[in-house]
Amino acid sequence: MAFTKVFSSILMMFVLFPSLFMAFPLIGSRSSLVPEYYQFSCPQLNDIVMTVLENAIARAPRTAASLLRLHFHDCFVQGCDASVLLDDSSTIASEKRAGPNLNSLRGYEVIDEIKAKLEEECPETVSCADIIALAARGSTVISGGPSWELPLGRKDSNCASINLANNNLPAPNSTIQNLINLFKRQGLSEIDLVALSGGHTIGMARCATFKQRLYNQKGNNQPDQTLERAYYFGLKTICPIIGGDNNISPLDLASPARFDNTYFKLIQWGKGLLTSDEVLLTGNVRMTAELVKAYALDEALFFRQFAESMTKMGNINPLTGYNGEVRKNCHRVN
Ligand code: HEM
Repeated sequence: MAFTKVFSSILMMFVLFPSLFMAFPLIGSRSSLVPEYYQFSCPQLNDIVMTVLENAIARAPRTAASLLRLHFHDCFVQGCDASVLLDDSSTIASEKRAGPNLNSLRGYEVIDEIKAKLEEECPETVSCADIIALAARGSTVISGGPSWELPLGRKDSNCASINLANNNLPAPNSTIQNLINLFKRQGLSEIDLVALSGGHTIGMARCATFKQRLYNQKGNNQPDQTLERAYYFGLKTICPIIGGDNNISPLDLASPARFDNTYFKLIQWGKGLLTSDEVLLTGNVRMTAELVKAYALDEALFFRQFAESMTKMGNINPLTGYNGEVRKNCHRVN
């Protein structure tokens, strides 16, 4: 009798306040991500994240771009599980040493700063994977881009994969088919590919990542013919044929710190920086080319799709329930 009473009151609570149950994942270890995950356990979460981000981006505007990219490089390797943050140890070969990340991926110290504040306010509660996702969204918003409702509740991995980091992350000289295949592998479509590439509306790239286009795009010692002339000559001054590999150039030369749709306009003018940007338009895939043109014409359309595709990317293989942990320190497993 007593049991029936308890059971029916739990049932009633569930009917009246379903989000309360979703916010406590231990009740069902397979529960998926929900925006209100930390509603009770760390209500000040978003304020803390945004305060740290605003200061960090005011000090160094490129930080926004670096944090957006960090989320991408986390999610494409074992899912969004903060594996990208693990340092080398006796059991871990750090993803930080993988080709696409070494001397390239940035923003780790801002994640540390957010984590340190959160450990003071809500100890051992917020995962490093959720911090990366929140930092990517906050960085987009602070740069003038769209916001989106962000499902939370990711747990952190206790392993990393340098091999997957080398194999799953697209190279800057990828063909359109390479790009489509690598995104498909993550359950992402051509639409997601073009919209998410729009992340290159902010940030910088090193000369090493676009040198081939300037001097030997097709193995015949000729530059990439799709490059606009003046842009090409400008890039050569930053990126000489020998040396200068770490010199940097904006991915969106018109507004490198502003999240807008000029990235797509620049591609149409032959001023996209990476081969992977250019082939969205000229890679002979009608769908991606049409999307570049559509986003160049309609910023609101790009913003809506970027928000949707970021949500999709953020949902790649999250660890939930008992399948992961909340690291105390994002650099190592507990
Ligand atoms: C489509 C395939 C992609 C390729 C081939 C690619 C490649 C690159 C490369 C080579 C760089 C410069 C790295 C360096 O100089 O060390 C870069 C920077 C960047 N990428 Fe991508 N990327 C891709 C997709 C994405 C996506 C999906 C996002 C986010 C949604 C993104 C966000 C960024 C940002 C913001 C930067 C600038 C980072 C900074 O300034 O620190 N990229 N990307």
